[in-house]
Amino acid sequence: TTGMITIDPGFKNTGSCESAITFLNGEKGMLRYRGYSIEDLAEKADFLEVAYLLIFGELPTKEQLKTFHNDIKAESHVDEEMKKILDGFPKSAHPMGVLSSLTSALIAFNPSSVNVSSEKDMYHAIVRIMAKFPVLVAWTMRKKKGLPLDYGDDNLGYVENLHKMMFKRPNKDYKTNKIAIDALDKLLILHADHEQNCSTSTVRITGSSHAGLFVSLSAGISALWGPLHGGANQAVLEMLEAIDEDDGDTQKYMAKAKDKDDPFRLMGFGHRVYKNFDPRAKILKKSADEVLSDLGLEDPILDVAKGLEKVALEDPYFVDRKLYPNVDFYSGIIYRALGIPTEMFTVMFAMGRLPGWIAHWREMRLRNEPIGRPRQVYIGKTSRPFVPLKKRK
Ligand code: SDX
Repeated sequence: TTGMITIDPGFKNTGSCESAITFLNGEKGMLRYRGYSIEDLAEKADFLEVAYLLIFGELPTKEQLKTFHNDIKAESHVDEEMKKILDGFPKSAHPMGVLSSLTSALIAFNPSSVNVSSEKDMYHAIVRIMAKFPVLVAWTMRKKKGLPLDYGDDNLGYVENLHKMMFKRPNKDYKTNKIAIDALDKLLILHADHEQNCSTSTVRITGSSHAGLFVSLSAGISALWGPLHGGANQAVLEMLEAIDEDDGDTQKYMAKAKDKDDPFRLMGFGHRVYKNFDPRAKILKKSADEVLSDLGLEDPILDVAKGLEKVALEDPYFVDRKLYPNVDFYSGIIYRALGIPTEMFTVMFAMGRLPGWIAHWREMRLRNEPIGRPRQVYIGKTSRPFVPLKKRK
């Protein structure tokens, strides 16, 4: 602290705003969207309903949900020219980089959504991105797999349509797989919001300069990509596969995770807020078992995950630091069971987090929050005279 400025690295003890969207209790491992528990919503609601709840504050009536979905369907076309931007990427491009670029590029094709201030214009920008984002998500995966880019089917449900766009094979009829769609719907609900996490704070501070919704979301996608945040779900699978290839030697990885000289961390463990089980991890652990058995799949990686969880939960280093599995620890196992490539896991996280990011951007703008501009404590050189080039040694 110097004078009136207190430095708080990572904002561990700083509240950036007041918000009515999501409530977390880290000690008790509780999560509520607009007052409804995550357990209730994951069990009884569907993703589009939860998106409406997060963005507008109330569970929609049948009529409101139908109107919201119809307004989204009316905007589900993504300009053909956008495919040229996608074509410019090498197949090796990471889908998160493609997704954040395409999300920004959408502005060029939706100029009226660039900077909106009236609630009516905000609503149109919101239904536009709710409609077009799933297309971009599907396109990033199909690009990787060398599949033709598909448009959705407005007769399907929101998540069913996403699933079809992702998985429709060019030469085969698409068969709705209810187990897969329900599992995907639940995954998206569990990722839908999480108050002031790194990517949501990024969306809020970007939007606080009155940058538009789409480009604020693009900034959020970039922040989510980091392996300490949303990128952890991909890193968890890579870690579990490495352990599996190492004859399941969890002790070796636990030792690395505790070694202060080793930058390796146990991915999918620990959380800034949860100092107890992440409620989403609890739901996902149960769901992983259900989805694998419903789909008649075996996955040795799930056993590796459970073994590692057991060891970590009994390890004093982890117990002392209250490190528990977080949302990213089990989610990848379900994505994998659904046929989603590892490199797409964080894109699926972004798809889930979309309504949360939108809700926070809208709340920040409607509350006329000031532009985010923190101060600092200067620790550089004091004043000194200029030295001409010829005199520098
Ligand atoms: C998400 O914020 C959100 O809400 C995020 C999220 C959301 O929904 O938006 O929940 C989604 O990002 C979940 C987190 C996914 N990330 C990972 O799984 C990566 C591994 N986890 C860690 O990097 C870490 O736990 C963080 C980043 C999640 C939290 O870091 P913090 O709060 O800054 O805690 P810290 O780094 O200060 O760690 C405290 C102590 C340290 O040891 P000491 O210096 O006290 O001796 O715990 C240790 C850390 O070294 N530690 C770990 C560890 N996590 C923390 N040691 C080994 N393995 C780990 N995973």
